[in-house]
Amino acid sequence: MEFHFSLDTIKEAAEKLWDAAGNARVLAFHGQMGAGKTTFIHALCQEKGVKDTVGSPTFSIINEYAYTENGLIQRMFHLDLYRLKNEEEALQAGVEDCLYSGNICLVEWPEKAPGIFPEDTLHVYLDIIDSTHRKLRIAYK
Ligand SMILES: Nc1ncnc2c1ncn2[C@@H]1O[C@H](COP(=O)(O)OP(=O)(O)O)[C@@H](O)[C@H]1O
Ligand SMILES: [Mg+2]
Repeated sequence: MEFHFSLDTIKEAAEKLWDAAGNARVLAFHGQMGAGKTTFIHALCQEKGVKDTVGSPTFSIINEYAYTENGLIQRMFHLDLYRLKNEEEALQAGVEDCLYSGNICLVEWPEKAPGIFPEDTLHVYLDIIDSTHRKLRIAYK
């Protein structure tokens, strides 16, 4: 699946991605700095009704958010691996525990520790078309 979106259509884009994601728990977001990973993850969280403020987890590698689904409070993780060097550091930071926790994990900079991702990770690729438009493509590797 592949489509273009702008900030004006990001809500619809987020809905579309959740529909396409099905039962996927781990979503890995690829794309250069400024591609819109954090912004799109923010939109995904809003779609799920996350109440906590969702920002870029610049200083913490792992951010935990709460949302309600089927009347139950669920947890969702937003991870930014940018500051990590490798798998070893990711393990020490507790990233693997999140990835295999069964909770939804939205991960920026997955290429920092490619070896620790579950087999069924949904990979999302964001590309800059121009200052306001982004291309989104998804693939199971
Ligand atoms: N269609 C779009 N989707 C996402 N971000 C966009 C879009 N158009 C413009 N932007 C801007 O691009 C920047 C993306 O930054 P950010 O989400 O932090 O990127 P990343 O996390 O990939 O480094 C933001 O300033 C955002 O307002
Ligand atoms: Mg970011």
